[in-house]
Amino acid sequence: MSSTLKENLNIVIRTLSLPEFKDLLNKLIEIYQSGYKGLEKYAYQKRHDIKSYLKWLYKTDPESFLVAFKNNRPIGFIAGCRFWQDKLYGEIGEIHELVVDKPFQGKGVGKKLLQETINNFKKDHDKIGLWVGEHNDQAIAFYKKMGFKVGGQVGKWLRMIKEI
Ligand code: ACO
Repeated sequence: MSSTLKENLNIVIRTLSLPEFKDLLNKLIEIYQSGYKGLEKYAYQKRHDIKSYLKWLYKTDPESFLVAFKNNRPIGFIAGCRFWQDKLYGEIGEIHELVVDKPFQGKGVGKKLLQETINNFKKDHDKIGLWVGEHNDQAIAFYKKMGFKVGGQVGKWLRMIKEI
């Protein structure tokens, strides 16, 4: 992962209108499938389930559904919720999903998407939370690097929290 690659990243991160989301849905499904290759036990497998999940993610908080574009082509997305009820912490910012197309992983795309979301959540909250698969080592290492700490576990899912 060279710094040159990161400097040349040149991506645009933005929200989608509902018509745009509908237009891009098939591409977003492909990104999800590509990003989760090798991590099947932590991801939906059936196309129908992925489609319903992505629609739910968008509907939950369209303002927190951000897509990274390179040369007008989507290469990753993050989906969150600005006002999420956590059993332990009350209302916090929640990240439901973050996925980068496999060929673009390790180039700083996930970091940029996460930073943008953190900036958006900062004005309302001092905590941000997410769930990640207990053996999803790459994502756990990524989130630890980004300042998240493990705060619990339910079944195969680790709870991670970051003070923002
Ligand atoms: N080990 C150690 N550090 C790592 C690793 C790793 N395997 N992967 C990334 N990092 C570090 C990088 O070194 C980098 O640090 P730096 O800026 O100091 O150099 C930092 O994390 C950011 O890395 P990015 O290149 O931005 O990470 P990427 O674009 O690959 O996105 C992500 C990370 C989202 C986990 C991606 O790999 C992915 O899509 N994985 C599959 C889907 C997935 O597991 N998503 C998370 C599920 S949990 C949820 O969504 C709430």
